[in-house]
Amino acid sequence: MVKIKIQSLYKSFGRHTVLNGIDLDIKQGDSLVILGGSGTGKSVLIKTIIGLITPDSGSIIIDGTDTTCMSSKTRFDIMKKCGFLFQNGALFDSLTVQDNITFFAERLYQLSKSDKQSMAVAKLKSVGLSERILNFYPAELSGGMQKRVALARAICSNPEIIFFDEPTTGLDPIMANIINELIIKVRTELGATTITITHDLNSAAIIANDVALIYQGKIIWYGSKEEMEDADDPYLHQFVHGLTEGPIQYT
Ligand SMILES: Nc1ncnc2c1ncn2[C@@H]1O[C@H](COP(=O)(O)OP(=O)(O)OP(=O)(O)O)[C@@H](O)[C@H]1O
Ligand SMILES: [Mg+2]
Repeated sequence: MVKIKIQSLYKSFGRHTVLNGIDLDIKQGDSLVILGGSGTGKSVLIKTIIGLITPDSGSIIIDGTDTTCMSSKTRFDIMKKCGFLFQNGALFDSLTVQDNITFFAERLYQLSKSDKQSMAVAKLKSVGLSERILNFYPAELSGGMQKRVALARAICSNPEIIFFDEPTTGLDPIMANIINELIIKVRTELGATTITITHDLNSAAIIANDVALIYQGKIIWYGSKEEMEDADDPYLHQFVHGLTEGPIQYT
């Protein structure tokens, strides 16, 4: 079953075309990894899927509903299904760990003070952190702890679809693998469909079922992780081996 169907998605900022006809089907329960060079539109793509950016044209169908032309009520229902780990974590500096974790859930559901606390404690536990840090501020946490708190926020309302934008960037290899394992764990626990953007091929190899490579605003390769290992596509080959020579050019 297709959970998210993206058809002919276009988005430009001024004269700069970022999404140039994206077509992508994301299966229910899939773990899709999106690869692509810096500035190719990966973050714009997932922000467009969750409605933070409005596309110029094209459609995004989630569970059979076209989200690009819907009422705010339907949009609210779609938002309830989604969790998002922003690039760089994006915790709110002035809010405690607890308030960061429940920030979006509070806006989607009626929560009492004790609901908020028990929710935050449960999610901290899911990401392997102690409730001792509930009242800490982000500046009092290490980078790896901040990523885990951001992960706790992404899973706070038990979403059906979770987006991870570069979850392991800037972490040491062990912490990166702890995050990779947590992503697999939360996906399994929640039965969620996950879409992860990463530059980290080790992370992609661990968490992906399927892989999409984006270049110049289009999906130029799509396949399973196993197909990726055997593929002889010149774009994929260049990206995976980090070659400076090849069809992918930085302008
Ligand atoms: N709100 C915006 N207004 C104008 N331009 C934008 C906006 N958001 C993104 N862009 C532009 O869109 C392009 C793609 O940005 P995006 O953040 O999607 O890249 P990315 O693939 O996620 O890169 P990275 O791997 O470095 O995070 C960039 O050139 C960026 O400047
Ligand atoms: Mg990005």
